[in-house]
Amino acid sequence: MPAIANRVASLGTTVFTEINDLALKHNAINLGQGRPDFDGPADIIAAEVAALQDGKHNQYAPGAGTLNMRKAIADHAGRFYNLDLDPNTGVIVTAGATEGIFSSLLGLVNAGDEVIVIEPYFDSYVPNLQWIGAMPVYVPLRPPAWTLDPDELRAAFTPRTRAILLNTPQNPTGRVFTYAELKLIADLCIEFDVICISDEVYEHLTFGETPHIPIATLPGMVERTVTISSLGKSYSVTGWKIGWVYGHPALVTGVQRAHQYVTFAAHHPAQTAAAYALSQPGTYYEDFLTMYTAKRDLMMAALNGSGLKAFAPEGTYFVMADFRDVFDGDDVAFARYLTTEIGVACIPPSVFYCPEHAEIGRRFARFAFCKGDDTLRAAGERLAKLKR
Ligand SMILES: Cc1ncc(COP(=O)(O)O)c(C=O)c1O
Repeated sequence: MPAIANRVASLGTTVFTEINDLALKHNAINLGQGRPDFDGPADIIAAEVAALQDGKHNQYAPGAGTLNMRKAIADHAGRFYNLDLDPNTGVIVTAGATEGIFSSLLGLVNAGDEVIVIEPYFDSYVPNLQWIGAMPVYVPLRPPAWTLDPDELRAAFTPRTRAILLNTPQNPTGRVFTYAELKLIADLCIEFDVICISDEVYEHLTFGETPHIPIATLPGMVERTVTISSLGKSYSVTGWKIGWVYGHPALVTGVQRAHQYVTFAAHHPAQTAAAYALSQPGTYYEDFLTMYTAKRDLMMAALNGSGLKAFAPEGTYFVMADFRDVFDGDDVAFARYLTTEIGVACIPPSVFYCPEHAEIGRRFARFAFCKGDDTLRAAGERLAKLKR
C-alpha cells in the first residue's frame, strides 16, 4: 500500500478531535471550538439564497473575486480604517481567511526564509510554513497579560527574516495589540525590510474602548503589509468560508498568483451576500458587540465562580484561564478531566506552541464564548464544581 506524503505524515489527529469526541461521548457543553452555536443574520442569509436562485451566480466567479465584492472590501477598509485600496489590483477574495493566509505565504515567502510566528498561534500557520519550506521563528506572548518582550521580538529579526505573521485581535489569548506594540513590530519590519501578514479575522470583536488598529495603517506599513480577514466571525457565518486579502498591489500580485492555483475562485453566490454584509450600517456592529459583551460577561462570571483565573479578553470570543488553583496536572489532562468529569469541553493551548515554548501554555485552558447565553450559564453551573 503506498504511503501518504512526508509533509502530512506527522500531522495525525489533533487533540481538538479527541476533545470533541470526548465532549460528544460525555454530553459535555462544548466551549472548545470557536464556532458560534447560533445562526447568522437572516437578511445576510436571505441575500445568499437570492444569489443562489437568480440564475447569475452558479458558475465560476472571477478568480480575484467579483468586482462588487472587491469594491465592498475596499469600501469597508476605507470606512473603518481610512485605507485607500484599489479594488482592481489590491484586493482578492479567498476561500476563508485560511486560504488567504496559505496563498499569502505561497505568494510572498521563499523556501528557506525565516518567518516570525507569535505564540500561541492559530493552528494552520506552522503546517503552512513547513509545506513551503520556510523556517518558523517563535516569539511567545508572556502571561499573565500576554505581552511581547521587546528584546525577544528584536532578537527574532535577522537578515533572513522574510515575514512576520501577526494576529490581532489574537486567538487564543483575546489580546488586541496596542498602537505602541504595533509600532514596535512595524519599526522592526521597516528596519529589516520584512513583510507583515496580518490576520485580522476578529477585527469587529473588540470590547469597551479598545480599538482594533490594522498594522497597515501605521507609517511605512501600507507597502509591506497584506491584511487578511473573513466573513465568518464578524457575521456569524463561519460555514461560508469567504475571506479576503488586501494590500499594496505589488504584494497582492504574489498572493493572486498563488490563489489562482490553490482554489482559482471562491464560492460565487456567497460573494453577493458578503458584499451586502460588509455594507451593514454602524448599528449592526454596535448590536454585534452588545451581544458579545454580554457573552463575555457571562463567561467571566462562570470562570470567576469556579476558581479559574483569567483576564477579561480585550477582543475575540476566546479567553485563556489559568487552572493551577483547582487542578494539578497539565493542560491536556485538565481538558480531558473538565470534559469527562465536569462536563465542559475546552482546548489545551500547549498545542499552539513550538515544543520549546509549550510549557508556557500548560497551565491554561482556552474557552470559546461564541455560544448561547443559556449554554454559557449552564457551563458556569458546571464549572462551579471545580472550586476547591
Ligand atoms: C486567528 C484566526 N485566523 C483564521 C481563522 C480562519 O478563518 P476562516 O474560517 O475564514 O478560514 C480563524 C478561525 O478560527 C482564526 O481564529
